Amino acid sequence: GEASGEPPGFSLSSRVQPDPSGSETCVCLQVEKHLEPFRLSLEKLQDVSARLRKDMLRGLGKHAHHRAAVKMLPTFVRATPDGTEKGDFLALDLGGTNFRVLHVRVLEEEQRVLKMDSQICAIPQEIMLGTGEKLFDHIAACLAEFLDSQKLRGQTLPLGFTFSFPCEQKEIDKSILIRWTKGFNCSGVEGEDVVRLLKEAIHRRGDYDIGSVAMVNDTVGTMMSCGYRDQSCEIGMIIGTGTNACYMEEMKNVKRVEGEDGRMCINTEWGGFGDDGSLKDILTEFDEEVDKTSINPGVHTFEKMISGMYLGEIVRLVLLKLTEEKLLFKGCPSEALLTPGSFETKFISEIEEPDSGLENAKKILTKLALDWDLVDACVARLVCDTVSSRSARLCAAALATIANRIRTNRGLDHLKTTVGVDGTVYRKHPNFSDELQAAVRLLAPKCDVSFLISEDGSGKGAAMVTAVAQRLALHCMLNFL
Ligand code: BGC
Repeated sequence: GEASGEPPGFSLSSRVQPDPSGSETCVCLQVEKHLEPFRLSLEKLQDVSARLRKDMLRGLGKHAHHRAAVKMLPTFVRATPDGTEKGDFLALDLGGTNFRVLHVRVLEEEQRVLKMDSQICAIPQEIMLGTGEKLFDHIAACLAEFLDSQKLRGQTLPLGFTFSFPCEQKEIDKSILIRWTKGFNCSGVEGEDVVRLLKEAIHRRGDYDIGSVAMVNDTVGTMMSCGYRDQSCEIGMIIGTGTNACYMEEMKNVKRVEGEDGRMCINTEWGGFGDDGSLKDILTEFDEEVDKTSINPGVHTFEKMISGMYLGEIVRLVLLKLTEEKLLFKGCPSEALLTPGSFETKFISEIEEPDSGLENAKKILTKLALDWDLVDACVARLVCDTVSSRSARLCAAALATIANRIRTNRGLDHLKTTVGVDGTVYRKHPNFSDELQAAVRLLAPKCDVSFLISEDGSGKGAAMVTAVAQRLALHCMLNFL
């Protein structure tokens, strides 16, 4: 820590320490030995950022891109909102915590996006792991039910489809799934056009239709929904079940799309960072275990160190290791602690709560049928803090890379920019956002980065993308006439 010349306030030692008096000092030191690999110095983070910068360049390149771990996918979103968009839209949101269907109205006069109504539809596990046809039939059925409840059947409204998985987009309405992430694994969808699959499912039913479709990654929806309020919002970031970011890149750098002028939003898919082995030096034995036991080993290395789908499991594995080493729970793990997935990511937030954290820790350890004492509860807190801090700092390193890139792209000494952000980890964890912001300040000192929590980016943002696409299409047509 100190040796890397960190300024005060960026202490790598944790806020929560077990009482270092008496025999516990020894426990503390031994615990620390196991947590040490999670503590990334400022220097290390700068190094990670430099690696990501190179990977982003590779992803943008015309040929190198096929082998790139960070895919840098063109989104065909060429403009952020200018405040003249309007109309009624449908939106679908698949790939976050819930699957949702929404009816959204964009009001030009008030520069506002209204969510008229929305509905959550459960996606049962067997559909998440079944055939693509079943998945899209299920989606089409949910949409039908929603249209009926809203008395919208018969109107062919344009639809924004927030599909939060890596897609190779050919056009705004043609989008090929590269691979599933985050627990989805439906057969026959990878390599296929998702818009076609959706339309086919609707036509199989034959009892309603939809208008034009715009495909949107959740990061893009998040950026666009914030962009309506703050026109300097040019980055979208998600830290939820998965993690990812998008930003506005200069067209001349987007070698895989024709044209030199203007900008295009790039979906970085930073979750894949490290899939070529470039993060080996910072992976812990626990990260390797999480990867090995996931449904997609070797895929989304960076995401597995950061996002909500995995953080709880990392903590569980560390607690288990410390128990095996007789540093916790008198050396006795419970059945629950031995069960994958039993330590939910939301426990981390609860345990790190500044006031009620220790009490919450005790409750959770009791729920997991562990024989704990006060030191155990403190150590559990320390583990949670260590794992979530690493997540926040890694995100900061990645976000700083993007901010620095936008700044140098534009030849600026100083950049002021806004990030639209969403995701359960960012929203629910008590100090994740503070840690993230503090680290970004250090890692991108020439950028003044503000954060705007997106109000339903995946719903309203998708409608916004659809609206902007329509506005641009209209302009195009008018120019042509
Ligand atoms: C997906 C991204 C998505 C992110 C956040 C990742 O697993 O690959 O497309 O933006 O999760 O939802």
